[in-house]
Amino acid sequence: MSSSITRVVGREVLDSRGRPTVEAEVHVASGVVGRAIAPSGASTGAAEALELRDGDANRYGGLGVLQAVENVNGLINAALCGVDATDQKNVDGQMLQLDGTEQKRNLGGNAMIAVSQATARAGAATQGIPLYQHLHHVIVEQTVELGYSTELFPAPRIPLPQTNMISGGLHAGGNLDFQDVLITPVGAADYATCLEWIVRVYKCLGQLLISRGFEGFLVGDEGGYGPKLTNNRDAVAIVAQAIEEAGLIPGEQVAMTLDVAATHFYRDGMYHLQAAGGRVLTSAEMIDMLEDWVEAFPIISIEDGLAEEDWEGWQQLNSRLGDRIMIVGDDLFTTNAKRVKKGIECGAANSVLVKVNQIGTISETIETMAVARRAGMKLIVSARSGETEDDTLADFATAAAGDQIKIGSIVRSERLAKYNQLLRLAETVPRFANDDRSS
Ligand code: PGA
Ligand code: ZN
Repeated sequence: MSSSITRVVGREVLDSRGRPTVEAEVHVASGVVGRAIAPSGASTGAAEALELRDGDANRYGGLGVLQAVENVNGLINAALCGVDATDQKNVDGQMLQLDGTEQKRNLGGNAMIAVSQATARAGAATQGIPLYQHLHHVIVEQTVELGYSTELFPAPRIPLPQTNMISGGLHAGGNLDFQDVLITPVGAADYATCLEWIVRVYKCLGQLLISRGFEGFLVGDEGGYGPKLTNNRDAVAIVAQAIEEAGLIPGEQVAMTLDVAATHFYRDGMYHLQAAGGRVLTSAEMIDMLEDWVEAFPIISIEDGLAEEDWEGWQQLNSRLGDRIMIVGDDLFTTNAKRVKKGIECGAANSVLVKVNQIGTISETIETMAVARRAGMKLIVSARSGETEDDTLADFATAAAGDQIKIGSIVRSERLAKYNQLLRLAETVPRFANDDRSS
């Protein structure tokens, strides 16, 4: 068969932080090759698929991925030769069987996601169709196999970007506890307008920061500014001001979102904030603070407002704010269908952040998305803080008719690879998430 896999090749390449990561190539009999690179997180959830790293302190400070690469060239290559590259479920299933662990401890989640995505690319290329179209077929096919309605994944749709303006937490060197303050152009009529508005706000924010004596040019891992503001609320307030100074209407044209990434400052059942002189808050006090901000600023979504183990707190947060804004689980869910099901049962959130490398294969990601959508949850397809020129994410989010996409900021080419691919896709994909925002 012309779409049979003939060879799987792995290699070690570098990501946007200068750390090694896994690149995979899937060669098929027709002669085409699909290639993809695994992304990598910094604020990782405890339940995520394991990133297999060599631990050899003499190479890249222990972060080398030669063992994971060896797994691609050896075990994975042997298992996948002869398998149909257009049968994504089978390819992912073979790897899952070979690995045999919940957290991909044997093959490495980094090896598996690189091969899984490279397979999707090879599958598309061998059929001569765009990647988003092939991925859409794969998503619909797997949704049917799960026994769910295909209406969960209607025609491909360009998602609405959520774009990082100020970075804190583990992604930047400033004082801020919160990881991202973001904007989202909810009133833009089309995707191209989103980008123009986002850049306008980003530039205004840089000027505002400089005029107040802060760094308006040094950026964090995802390209957001990393100013040494002393207070988390100030970061939110200055972004709100930048929207106005850009001549855009806050809330109506451009809204705000937050990724608190609260797990990294949660210890012994309390939230330890460093900014503003250091404060220790209970879960209830964190919720009060977030509610106060939602009242004061045009915030339409809060991600990881509480820690990944604080399920009770999440229930409270969702019951207080879930009817007004998106309550998004990232570390809470780690793109894991079991964890999303638990979240649905206890009413912990109304939206899911989707990161393919948190779970390790495209097929498992599809299951998680189907479980979430069936419960009426919104999907935000997301990049990682460690990214590369690989732009598979743009096609994947479009194929899944994602509600939003979160790629980081609007500078740095590992981010722009995805934003620009969405511009190309928007030429042929007529639907855009804002068309359906009222629904
Ligand atoms: P990460 O950050 O890739 O470092 O996990 C992104 C996020 O938290 O959404
Ligand atoms: Zn997050």
